[in-house]
Amino acid sequence: MEVYADYAATTPIKPEVIEKMMEMYQHHYGNPSSIHSVGRDARQYLDAARRDIASFLGAKPNEVIFTSGATESNNTAIKGLAYANQHKGKHIITSKIEHHSVLHVFEQLEKEGFEVTYLDVNKEGIVDLTQLKNVMREDTILVSIMFVNNEVGTVQPMYDIEEIVKQYDAMLHVDAVQAIEHLPIKFDDFEFDTMSITAHKFGGPKGVGILLVKEKTPIRFSQLGGSQETKRRAGTENVPQIAGMAEALKLADAHRDENNVHLMNLKELFLVQLQERSIPFEVNGSMTDTTGHILNLYFPFIDVETMLTLLDLANISVSSGSACTAGSTMPSHVLEAMYGDDPRTKQSIRFSFNELTTELEIKYIVAEIQKIYHRFKEE
Ligand SMILES: Cc1ncc(COP(=O)(O)O)c(C=O)c1O
Repeated sequence: MEVYADYAATTPIKPEVIEKMMEMYQHHYGNPSSIHSVGRDARQYLDAARRDIASFLGAKPNEVIFTSGATESNNTAIKGLAYANQHKGKHIITSKIEHHSVLHVFEQLEKEGFEVTYLDVNKEGIVDLTQLKNVMREDTILVSIMFVNNEVGTVQPMYDIEEIVKQYDAMLHVDAVQAIEHLPIKFDDFEFDTMSITAHKFGGPKGVGILLVKEKTPIRFSQLGGSQETKRRAGTENVPQIAGMAEALKLADAHRDENNVHLMNLKELFLVQLQERSIPFEVNGSMTDTTGHILNLYFPFIDVETMLTLLDLANISVSSGSACTAGSTMPSHVLEAMYGDDPRTKQSIRFSFNELTTELEIKYIVAEIQKIYHRFKEE
Protein backbone atom coordinates (compact mmCIF):
# COMPACT_ATOMS: atom_id res chain seq x y z
CA MET A 1 0.00 0.00 0.00
CA GLU A 2 1.16 3.56 -0.70
CA VAL A 3 -0.09 6.36 1.50
CA TYR A 4 0.32 10.07 0.97
CA ALA A 5 -0.31 11.84 4.26
CA ASP A 6 1.41 15.17 3.64
CA TYR A 7 -1.50 17.22 2.31
CA ALA A 8 -0.44 20.25 4.36
CA ALA A 9 2.70 20.38 2.18
CA THR A 10 0.72 20.18 -1.03
CA THR A 11 -2.33 18.47 -2.54
CA PRO A 12 -2.85 16.71 -5.86
CA ILE A 13 -4.75 18.81 -8.39
CA LYS A 14 -8.45 17.90 -8.54
CA PRO A 15 -9.65 16.38 -11.84
CA GLU A 16 -12.21 19.19 -12.37
CA VAL A 17 -9.39 21.71 -11.97
CA ILE A 18 -7.18 19.91 -14.50
CA GLU A 19 -10.10 19.83 -16.92
CA LYS A 20 -10.67 23.57 -16.50
CA MET A 21 -7.00 24.35 -16.98
CA MET A 22 -6.72 22.11 -20.08
CA GLU A 23 -9.65 23.96 -21.63
CA MET A 24 -7.94 27.26 -20.84
CA TYR A 25 -4.52 26.21 -22.18
CA GLN A 26 -6.08 24.87 -25.38
CA HIS A 27 -8.78 27.42 -26.17
CA HIS A 28 -8.31 30.56 -24.09
CA TYR A 29 -4.57 31.14 -24.21
CA GLY A 30 -4.65 34.86 -24.95
CA ASN A 31 -2.85 37.55 -23.04
CA PRO A 32 -5.61 39.29 -21.08
CA SER A 33 -3.94 42.66 -21.69
CA SER A 34 -4.12 42.27 -25.51
CA ILE A 35 -6.94 44.28 -27.03
CA HIS A 36 -7.75 41.87 -29.91
CA SER A 37 -10.45 39.24 -29.63
CA VAL A 38 -8.14 36.44 -28.36
CA GLY A 39 -6.92 38.75 -25.60
CA ARG A 40 -10.46 39.91 -24.80
CA ASP A 41 -11.53 36.26 -24.55
CA ALA A 42 -8.81 35.55 -21.94
CA ARG A 43 -9.75 38.77 -20.14
CA GLN A 44 -13.32 37.51 -19.76
CA TYR A 45 -12.09 34.36 -18.05
CA LEU A 46 -9.76 36.36 -15.82
CA ASP A 47 -12.58 38.72 -14.82
CA ALA A 48 -14.94 35.81 -14.18
CA ALA A 49 -12.36 34.04 -11.99
CA ARG A 50 -11.79 37.26 -10.04
CA ARG A 51 -15.53 37.74 -9.48
CA ASP A 52 -16.02 34.11 -8.38
CA ILE A 53 -13.01 34.13 -6.07
CA ALA A 54 -14.11 37.44 -4.54
CA SER A 55 -17.56 36.04 -3.88
CA PHE A 56 -16.24 32.79 -2.29
CA LEU A 57 -13.93 34.82 -0.05
CA GLY A 58 -16.38 37.59 0.85
CA ALA A 59 -14.23 40.22 -0.85
CA LYS A 60 -14.73 42.79 -3.60
CA PRO A 61 -13.28 41.90 -7.01
CA ASN A 62 -10.93 44.89 -6.84
CA GLU A 63 -9.57 43.59 -3.51
CA VAL A 64 -8.23 40.45 -5.25
CA ILE A 65 -4.63 40.52 -6.51
CA PHE A 66 -3.32 37.41 -8.24
CA THR A 67 0.20 36.36 -7.28
CA SER A 68 2.57 33.42 -7.74
CA GLY A 69 1.59 31.89 -4.38
CA ALA A 70 1.54 32.67 -0.70
CA THR A 71 5.28 33.31 -0.39
CA GLU A 72 4.87 36.23 -2.78
CA SER A 73 1.60 37.32 -1.13
CA ASN A 74 3.20 37.34 2.33
CA ASN A 75 6.31 39.19 1.11
CA THR A 76 4.25 41.78 -0.77
CA ALA A 77 1.84 42.40 2.10
CA ILE A 78 4.34 42.62 4.94
CA LYS A 79 6.92 44.75 3.14
CA GLY A 80 4.23 46.84 1.46
CA LEU A 81 2.40 47.58 4.72
CA ALA A 82 5.61 48.25 6.65
CA TYR A 83 7.02 50.66 4.06
CA ALA A 84 3.75 52.51 3.44
CA ASN A 85 3.15 53.11 7.16
CA GLN A 86 6.66 53.67 8.50
CA HIS A 87 6.07 57.43 8.86
CA LYS A 88 3.74 56.50 11.78
CA GLY A 89 6.24 54.26 13.57
CA LYS A 90 8.64 51.36 13.10
CA HIS A 91 7.34 48.77 15.54
CA ILE A 92 6.01 45.57 13.93
CA ILE A 93 4.74 42.34 15.49
CA THR A 94 4.45 38.72 14.43
CA SER A 95 4.36 35.35 16.19
CA LYS A 96 7.16 32.81 16.67
CA ILE A 97 5.22 30.12 14.79
CA GLU A 98 4.72 31.82 11.41
CA HIS A 99 5.75 30.26 8.12
CA HIS A 100 9.23 31.25 6.94
CA SER A 101 7.73 33.37 4.16
CA VAL A 102 6.59 35.65 7.00
CA LEU A 103 9.40 35.21 9.55
CA HIS A 104 12.24 35.80 7.10
CA VAL A 105 10.58 39.02 5.88
CA PHE A 106 10.35 40.28 9.47
CA GLU A 107 14.02 39.39 9.99
CA GLN A 108 14.89 41.39 6.87
CA LEU A 109 12.83 44.37 8.05
CA GLU A 110 14.58 44.16 11.41
CA LYS A 111 17.92 44.52 9.61
CA GLU A 112 16.49 47.56 7.84
CA GLY A 113 15.76 49.30 11.16
CA PHE A 114 12.25 48.16 12.10
CA GLU A 115 11.77 46.98 15.68
CA VAL A 116 10.18 43.51 15.78
CA THR A 117 8.32 41.75 18.62
CA TYR A 118 7.94 37.98 18.16
CA LEU A 119 4.94 36.80 20.17
CA ASP A 120 5.09 33.64 22.27
CA VAL A 121 2.55 30.84 22.00
CA ASN A 122 1.26 28.44 24.67
CA LYS A 123 1.67 24.64 24.58
CA GLU A 124 -1.29 24.35 22.24
CA GLY A 125 0.26 26.79 19.80
CA ILE A 126 -2.10 29.69 20.56
CA VAL A 127 -0.70 33.20 20.44
CA ASP A 128 -0.33 34.90 23.83
CA LEU A 129 -3.09 37.53 23.74
CA THR A 130 -2.02 39.15 27.01
CA GLN A 131 1.45 39.64 25.60
CA LEU A 132 -0.04 41.10 22.40
CA LYS A 133 -2.09 43.59 24.48
CA ASN A 134 1.00 44.53 26.47
CA VAL A 135 3.35 45.04 23.53
CA MET A 136 1.00 47.08 21.30
CA ARG A 137 2.13 50.72 21.26
CA GLU A 138 1.29 53.99 19.52
CA ASP A 139 4.13 53.38 17.06
CA THR A 140 3.05 49.80 16.23
CA ILE A 141 2.20 49.87 12.54
CA LEU A 142 1.81 46.22 11.59
CA VAL A 143 0.81 42.86 13.09
CA SER A 144 1.03 39.63 11.07
CA ILE A 145 -0.54 36.42 12.45
CA MET A 146 -1.38 33.19 10.64
CA PHE A 147 -4.96 31.89 10.82
CA VAL A 148 -4.04 28.18 11.07
CA ASN A 149 -0.57 26.89 11.78
CA ASN A 150 0.85 24.63 9.06
CA GLU A 151 2.74 22.28 11.41
CA VAL A 152 0.28 21.66 14.25
CA GLY A 153 -3.05 22.86 12.80
CA THR A 154 -3.89 25.23 15.67
CA VAL A 155 -6.50 27.86 14.82
CA GLN A 156 -5.74 31.31 16.22
CA PRO A 157 -8.40 33.46 17.95
CA MET A 158 -8.52 35.92 15.05
CA TYR A 159 -11.49 37.99 16.30
CA ASP A 160 -9.67 38.62 19.62
CA ILE A 161 -6.45 39.41 17.79
CA GLU A 162 -8.07 41.91 15.45
CA GLU A 163 -9.90 43.56 18.35
CA ILE A 164 -6.58 44.23 20.11
CA VAL A 165 -4.78 45.33 16.94
CA LYS A 166 -7.55 47.64 15.79
CA GLN A 167 -7.60 49.53 19.10
CA TYR A 168 -4.42 51.00 17.66
CA ASP A 169 -3.99 52.40 14.20
CA ALA A 170 -2.03 49.30 13.11
CA MET A 171 -2.35 47.20 9.96
CA LEU A 172 -3.22 43.50 10.24
CA HIS A 173 -1.93 40.87 7.79
CA VAL A 174 -3.19 37.27 7.94
CA ASP A 175 -1.63 34.21 6.34
CA ALA A 176 -4.76 32.10 5.71
CA VAL A 177 -3.05 29.41 3.62
CA GLN A 178 -3.91 26.43 5.84
CA ALA A 179 -7.30 27.80 6.88
CA ILE A 180 -9.11 28.53 3.67
CA GLU A 181 -10.23 25.02 2.80
CA HIS A 182 -11.45 24.25 6.31
CA LEU A 183 -12.94 27.45 7.73
CA PRO A 184 -15.61 29.50 5.95
CA ILE A 185 -13.59 32.72 6.10
CA LYS A 186 -15.16 35.85 4.65
CA PHE A 187 -12.70 38.72 4.27
CA ASP A 188 -15.39 41.35 4.86
CA ASP A 189 -16.34 39.77 8.22
CA PHE A 190 -12.91 40.70 9.53
CA GLU A 191 -10.92 43.89 9.87
CA PHE A 192 -7.90 42.26 8.23
CA ASP A 193 -6.08 44.63 5.88
CA THR A 194 -4.47 41.89 3.82
CA MET A 195 -4.77 38.10 3.58
CA SER A 196 -2.69 35.46 1.74
CA ILE A 197 -3.90 32.27 0.05
CA THR A 198 -2.24 29.70 -2.21
CA ALA A 199 -4.02 27.31 -4.60
CA HIS A 200 -1.89 24.18 -4.17
CA LYS A 201 -3.13 23.56 -0.63
CA PHE A 202 -6.72 22.96 -1.76
CA GLY A 203 -6.50 20.96 -4.97
CA GLY A 204 -5.32 23.77 -7.23
CA PRO A 205 -2.04 24.17 -9.12
CA LYS A 206 1.27 25.26 -7.59
CA GLY A 207 2.67 28.70 -8.34
CA VAL A 208 -0.55 30.68 -8.15
CA GLY A 209 -2.12 32.48 -5.21
CA ILE A 210 -4.01 35.49 -3.99
CA LEU A 211 -3.34 38.56 -1.92
CA LEU A 212 -6.53 40.22 -0.71
CA VAL A 213 -6.11 43.90 0.10
CA LYS A 214 -8.89 46.07 1.59
CA GLU A 215 -9.75 49.04 -0.60
CA LYS A 216 -8.61 51.71 1.86
CA THR A 217 -5.50 49.95 3.17
CA PRO A 218 -2.33 52.03 2.74
CA ILE A 219 0.20 49.69 1.11
CA ARG A 220 3.14 50.17 -1.22
CA PHE A 221 3.59 47.79 -4.16
CA SER A 222 7.06 47.37 -5.53
CA GLN A 223 6.90 44.97 -8.49
CA LEU A 224 7.38 47.23 -11.51
CA GLY A 225 6.53 46.52 -15.13
CA GLY A 226 3.18 46.45 -16.92
CA SER A 227 -0.03 47.79 -15.45
CA GLN A 228 -1.62 44.41 -14.67
CA GLU A 229 -3.71 43.96 -11.51
CA THR A 230 -4.46 47.70 -11.62
CA LYS A 231 -0.75 48.49 -11.30
CA ARG A 232 -0.43 46.57 -8.03
CA ARG A 233 1.36 43.49 -9.38
CA ALA A 234 3.12 43.77 -12.73
CA GLY A 235 3.37 40.65 -14.91
CA THR A 236 1.05 38.80 -17.30
CA GLU A 237 -1.63 37.05 -15.29
CA ASN A 238 -1.46 33.24 -15.34
CA VAL A 239 -5.04 32.93 -16.58
CA PRO A 240 -5.26 29.10 -16.91
CA GLN A 241 -3.99 28.57 -13.38
CA ILE A 242 -6.11 31.40 -12.00
CA ALA A 243 -9.19 29.79 -13.59
CA GLY A 244 -8.08 26.45 -12.07
CA MET A 245 -7.69 28.11 -8.66
CA ALA A 246 -11.23 29.53 -8.91
CA GLU A 247 -12.53 26.04 -9.71
CA ALA A 248 -10.62 24.53 -6.76
CA LEU A 249 -11.98 27.20 -4.43
CA LYS A 250 -15.52 26.54 -5.67
CA LEU A 251 -15.11 22.83 -4.84
CA ALA A 252 -13.56 23.58 -1.45
CA ASP A 253 -16.45 25.89 -0.63
CA ALA A 254 -19.10 23.39 -1.76
CA HIS A 255 -17.67 20.42 0.15
CA ARG A 256 -16.23 22.14 3.24
CA ASP A 257 -18.71 20.79 5.80
CA GLU A 258 -18.69 17.17 4.65
CA ASN A 259 -14.89 17.22 4.27
CA ASN A 260 -14.45 18.61 7.78
CA VAL A 261 -16.60 15.82 9.24
CA HIS A 262 -14.56 13.25 7.30
CA LEU A 263 -11.27 14.74 8.48
CA MET A 264 -12.30 14.95 12.13
CA ASN A 265 -13.40 11.29 11.97
CA LEU A 266 -10.06 10.26 10.51
CA LYS A 267 -8.17 12.14 13.19
CA GLU A 268 -10.28 10.47 15.88
CA LEU A 269 -9.71 7.06 14.28
CA PHE A 270 -5.95 7.66 14.20
CA LEU A 271 -5.86 8.48 17.93
CA VAL A 272 -8.15 5.60 18.91
CA GLN A 273 -6.06 3.15 16.88
CA LEU A 274 -2.87 4.34 18.57
CA GLN A 275 -4.47 3.89 21.99
CA GLU A 276 -5.88 0.46 21.17
CA ARG A 277 -2.46 -0.71 20.06
CA SER A 278 -0.84 0.78 23.21
CA ILE A 279 1.56 2.92 21.23
CA PRO A 280 2.87 5.78 23.39
CA PHE A 281 2.19 9.22 21.88
CA GLU A 282 1.09 12.76 22.66
CA VAL A 283 -0.66 15.28 20.45
CA ASN A 284 1.26 18.47 19.68
CA GLY A 285 -1.25 21.28 19.45
CA SER A 286 -4.85 21.78 20.43
CA MET A 287 -7.62 19.16 20.46
CA THR A 288 -10.33 21.82 20.24
CA ASP A 289 -8.97 24.86 18.37
CA THR A 290 -7.79 22.87 15.40
CA THR A 291 -8.57 21.94 11.82
CA GLY A 292 -9.13 18.30 10.88
CA HIS A 293 -6.37 18.09 8.29
CA ILE A 294 -3.29 18.23 10.51
CA LEU A 295 -2.27 15.83 13.28
CA ASN A 296 1.17 16.43 14.78
CA LEU A 297 2.26 13.61 17.09
CA TYR A 298 5.10 13.12 19.54
CA PHE A 299 6.44 9.53 19.74
CA PRO A 300 8.77 9.25 22.76
CA PHE A 301 10.47 6.06 21.52
CA ILE A 302 12.15 7.32 18.36
CA ASP A 303 13.88 10.29 16.73
CA VAL A 304 12.21 12.02 13.84
CA GLU A 305 14.73 11.14 11.10
CA THR A 306 14.57 7.40 11.85
CA MET A 307 10.78 7.51 11.98
CA LEU A 308 10.52 9.38 8.66
CA THR A 309 12.92 6.94 6.99
CA LEU A 310 11.07 3.88 8.27
CA LEU A 311 7.69 5.28 7.28
CA ASP A 312 9.08 6.13 3.86
CA LEU A 313 10.29 2.53 3.49
CA ALA A 314 6.72 1.47 4.26
CA ASN A 315 5.58 3.80 1.41
CA ILE A 316 4.07 6.34 3.76
CA SER A 317 4.81 9.95 2.82
CA VAL A 318 4.70 12.26 5.81
CA SER A 319 6.93 15.01 7.17
CA SER A 320 8.35 16.46 10.34
CA GLY A 321 6.80 19.84 9.65
CA SER A 322 7.05 22.50 7.00
CA ALA A 323 8.15 21.15 3.60
CA CYS A 324 10.34 24.22 3.21
CA THR A 325 12.56 23.08 6.07
CA ALA A 326 12.31 19.34 5.38
CA GLY A 327 15.69 17.77 4.91
CA SER A 328 17.17 19.86 7.68
CA THR A 329 17.85 18.20 11.01
CA MET A 330 17.00 21.35 12.93
CA PRO A 331 14.04 20.99 15.27
CA SER A 332 10.92 22.79 14.13
CA HIS A 333 10.74 26.45 15.20
CA VAL A 334 7.00 25.93 15.82
CA LEU A 335 7.51 23.06 18.27
CA GLU A 336 10.38 24.97 19.92
CA ALA A 337 8.07 27.94 20.44
CA MET A 338 5.49 25.61 22.01
CA TYR A 339 7.75 23.36 24.12
CA GLY A 340 11.16 25.06 24.45
CA ASP A 341 14.08 22.61 24.27
CA ASP A 342 11.97 19.57 25.27
CA PRO A 343 13.13 16.40 23.39
CA ARG A 344 9.66 16.13 21.82
CA THR A 345 10.70 18.85 19.35
CA LYS A 346 12.99 16.21 17.80
CA GLN A 347 10.57 13.29 18.08
CA SER A 348 7.44 14.55 16.36
CA ILE A 349 5.81 13.86 13.02
CA ARG A 350 3.16 15.80 11.09
CA PHE A 351 0.46 13.71 9.46
CA SER A 352 -1.92 15.62 7.21
CA PHE A 353 -4.97 14.47 5.33
CA ASN A 354 -7.59 15.54 2.84
CA GLU A 355 -10.85 14.16 1.50
CA LEU A 356 -8.94 11.50 -0.46
CA THR A 357 -7.58 9.96 2.74
CA THR A 358 -9.34 6.73 3.71
CA GLU A 359 -9.86 4.86 6.97
CA LEU A 360 -7.85 1.99 5.51
CA GLU A 361 -4.90 4.33 5.00
CA ILE A 362 -5.10 5.52 8.60
CA LYS A 363 -5.15 1.91 9.84
CA TYR A 364 -2.17 1.09 7.64
CA ILE A 365 -0.17 4.03 8.99
CA VAL A 366 -0.91 3.05 12.61
CA ALA A 367 -0.05 -0.61 11.94
CA GLU A 368 3.32 0.47 10.53
CA ILE A 369 3.95 2.75 13.52
CA GLN A 370 3.21 -0.22 15.77
CA LYS A 371 5.82 -2.33 13.98
CA ILE A 372 8.36 0.48 14.41
CA TYR A 373 7.42 0.86 18.09
CA HIS A 374 7.94 -2.84 18.80
CA ARG A 375 11.26 -2.84 17.01
CA PHE A 376 12.55 0.10 19.05
CA LYS A 377 11.05 -1.05 22.32
CA GLU A 378 13.00 -4.31 22.02
CA GLU A 379 16.33 -2.63 21.22
C1 LIG B 1 1.16 28.72 6.32
C2 LIG B 1 1.85 28.82 5.00
N1 LIG B 1 2.19 30.04 4.52
C3 LIG B 1 2.80 30.17 3.35
C4 LIG B 1 3.12 29.08 2.56
C5 LIG B 1 3.83 29.31 1.25
O1 LIG B 1 2.98 29.11 0.17
P1 LIG B 1 3.55 28.89 -1.32
O2 LIG B 1 4.01 27.48 -1.37
O3 LIG B 1 2.38 29.15 -2.21
O4 LIG B 1 4.61 29.88 -1.54
C6 LIG B 1 2.79 27.79 3.03
C7 LIG B 1 3.11 26.54 2.30
O5 LIG B 1 4.03 26.28 1.69
C8 LIG B 1 2.14 27.67 4.28
O6 LIG B 1 1.81 26.47 4.77
